[in-house]
Amino acid sequence: MEGSVVVWLTCSLLAISCSVNAVYTYDPKSIRRRNLLANGLASTPPMGWNSWNHFNCMIDEKIIKETADALISTGLAKLGYKYVNIDDCWAEIYRDEKGTLVPKKSTFPSGIKALADYVHSKGLKLGIYGDAGYYTCSKKMPGSLGHEEHDAKTYASWGIDYLKYDNCNTDGSKPTIRYPVMTKALMSAGRPIFFSLCEWGDMHPALWGSKLGNSWRTTNDIADTWESMISRADENEVYADYARPGGWNDPDMLEIGNGGMTKDEYIIHFSIWAISKAPLLIGCDVRNITKETMEIISNKEVIAVNQDKLGVQAKKVRMEGNLEVWAGPLSDYRVALVLLNRGPDRTAITAYWDDIGIPPKSSVVARDLWEHKTLEPRFVGNLSATVDSHACKMYVLKPVS
Ligand SMILES: *[C@@H]1O[C@H](CO)[C@@H](O)[C@H](O)[C@H]1NC(C)=O
Ligand SMILES: *[C@@H]1O[C@H](CO)[C@@H](O)[C@H](O)[C@H]1NC(C)=O
Repeated sequence: MEGSVVVWLTCSLLAISCSVNAVYTYDPKSIRRRNLLANGLASTPPMGWNSWNHFNCMIDEKIIKETADALISTGLAKLGYKYVNIDDCWAEIYRDEKGTLVPKKSTFPSGIKALADYVHSKGLKLGIYGDAGYYTCSKKMPGSLGHEEHDAKTYASWGIDYLKYDNCNTDGSKPTIRYPVMTKALMSAGRPIFFSLCEWGDMHPALWGSKLGNSWRTTNDIADTWESMISRADENEVYADYARPGGWNDPDMLEIGNGGMTKDEYIIHFSIWAISKAPLLIGCDVRNITKETMEIISNKEVIAVNQDKLGVQAKKVRMEGNLEVWAGPLSDYRVALVLLNRGPDRTAITAYWDDIGIPPKSSVVARDLWEHKTLEPRFVGNLSATVDSHACKMYVLKPVS
């Protein structure tokens, strides 16, 4: 994404005004409902699959259909993974004579409507990809700048359920100028379409995204490495207060199953995305998924934390060097907790009730979500665990007195 570096630099000035703005105008209680995008979607973070992380531009309708089939046959769809999202490179470089986007004939010969019908027949939803510029990031297909209304109507007529909207090859104007045009177009297109803002966090979209979309990327693209994953988790955490049912911070799609990290690192990836109420969009080849990857992304108890109806994003509540405690409230006075060891040595980590919003004298039942065990002693005041290097523990805590 060549454009993004330039925008990032110019944004260092904006960052000051953005954050000052935040201090003076953000009042979570008063804006919590009023500023939501009124399409009724995203009461919990979206779950599904996206083609980009594994396939990049090498996609076709066969892969998309087989992925839909695989989401069903693996049982992932039943766990909530419903969106089948096509990323960049699905269209011809030229629009037709009416100005309509044309599905690429060599790779999507049946067209997107037929694909949507297929995906819907399985009880799943179809997502697509566009760009708030003249061309998408691949430069292999047109963007929607100047065609927003027409493209939104096209998507609605095809039966599209989700639009990821990228930020490449623009006219240089701010995302806050270009994105609302597509919001308006989608809202009058006659079909509820989840709107995923993908301007990579350049203009702090957490501060304005909830009025325009159902999720907003807070970071640049993820890569399948520990450094990339963990730095996106950090960048996304800063905006925790802005996530809420209807609109979510998005640290980018999952890399679990793509091979660049250890199993423990992928467990961290899934745990932190879940507790951060991030979209859970699988990014590997679901048609050829390993037992290990399935074990991670099908953990029902971790998914339940992500999909909890309270919809509050966790924060880092304590950091000591490489040791971190992440926690956030769940419904029914429960608390989700991650103990994260980013360092090179196996070390004990302690979470104190003081730090995680549990009254100090409360006795707590702890459920270990990766061991699938309710721990025997009750805990008072703190919970400690020894955690391997680049590994984590994840719990749900329930005060009982
Ligand atoms: C399936 O995955 C295995 C490793 O997990 C890999 O070696 C193989 O090439 C994959 N097959 C396809 C068709 O992608
Ligand atoms: C944790 O709490 C227990 C009492 O429940 C106490 O004995 C222990 O010292 C505490 N641990 C730390 C590290 O504060």
